[in-house]
Amino acid sequence: MDLDFEALRKEFPLLAGTTYLNNGSYGALANTVKAAFEAYLEERLIVGADWDAWIMKTESVRSLVATLLRAAPDEIAITASVSAGLNALASACHFSGVRNKVIVSDFEFPTNAQIWHAQEPRGAKVVHVPPAADGYISLEMFERAIDEQTQLVAVTHVCYRNGAKLDIAGIVRLAHAKGALVLLDCYQSIGSLDVDVKSLDVDFAAGGMLKYLLGTAGIGFLYVRRELVQSTLPTNSGWFAQDDVGAMDITANRPASNARRFEAGTPAVVNCYAAEAGLKVILNVGMAAIENRVYALTRRCMQRMEDIDWPSITPNEDARRGATVAIASRKSTELCAQLKQRGIVTSSRANNVRASFHYYNNEADIECFVGAMKEARDRYGPP
Ligand SMILES: Cc1ncc(COP(=O)(O)O)c(C=O)c1O
Repeated sequence: MDLDFEALRKEFPLLAGTTYLNNGSYGALANTVKAAFEAYLEERLIVGADWDAWIMKTESVRSLVATLLRAAPDEIAITASVSAGLNALASACHFSGVRNKVIVSDFEFPTNAQIWHAQEPRGAKVVHVPPAADGYISLEMFERAIDEQTQLVAVTHVCYRNGAKLDIAGIVRLAHAKGALVLLDCYQSIGSLDVDVKSLDVDFAAGGMLKYLLGTAGIGFLYVRRELVQSTLPTNSGWFAQDDVGAMDITANRPASNARRFEAGTPAVVNCYAAEAGLKVILNVGMAAIENRVYALTRRCMQRMEDIDWPSITPNEDARRGATVAIASRKSTELCAQLKQRGIVTSSRANNVRASFHYYNNEADIECFVGAMKEARDRYGPP
């Protein structure tokens, strides 16, 4: 059955007056997500504190994330951010032996490189995999870097700067063949592309709720493959990471036997309300339909940018692309500000204007954006 995307678009009041192409930064607010925030406030006014219901909310978010990733709830930690999840994971790594290398790509969002560099005083050796001459990081580049000293390959699914998507299944095969584990940073893909951690065969995955998952800031997740949970013991901890949260035992650290051991303190209750509502919107529309729609929109946007002789720098092939179309500009920050004055919301990263698409965007958004870019070309065009 074909979905009526124009009807789905009406769930987002922002889209009535704005060409919103900033989904790689923050998703648009759905009416149901707004209602979830309000429900939390209402409960605070009337009930005060309802810890049982709040814990159930966190568990609901955990199982929705698990459904989305094709994982089990006991493989999911609900974290405060991607950074919090990565720090918890890093605290469980040992770098004193021969397997002390962490491989990152040059496409990483800073946090997934900085946190591994922060482990250097503990013995970690961080190796960066650069792009080839064509600007893409192919499997050959990873093959050169991954060796028997590699403990972890920590890679982004989609690059936040240029929209390039890495061959994660291929990277996992290379890493596993050398005995290394793989952490996927899927923040720029989750909710816009199907992320199936089991078929990708990644060992860990981290993401958050404010972009394509339509939730809010201050909440994320860390997936840990079940077979690795017992042997991965974080030294970051807290009472919500304990086997029995209610134990209140100050004489020992007894970490949960599941991925909850990567959590820490009181969950961000209001964020759970918003995240739950956002996840439900995404799961209701369905990841296959969303992914198809996002590819169709990005493909069309790239074609139209070629028509106006300002081609995007994002790879053309669907297999190498996510939801972002990046366009290099001489003055990307000024160009974004100009677009914003015309009601077109994009973002600027590393001299690129990022137009990032979700299923609720449409052909009219593309035409509005490309029309404005055409007019701006002489002043802000390609470098
Ligand atoms: C790919 C990627 N990873 C990580 C982050 C940062 O995540 P957090 O602020 O939740 O630590 C971002 C934020 O934009 C991102 O795009």
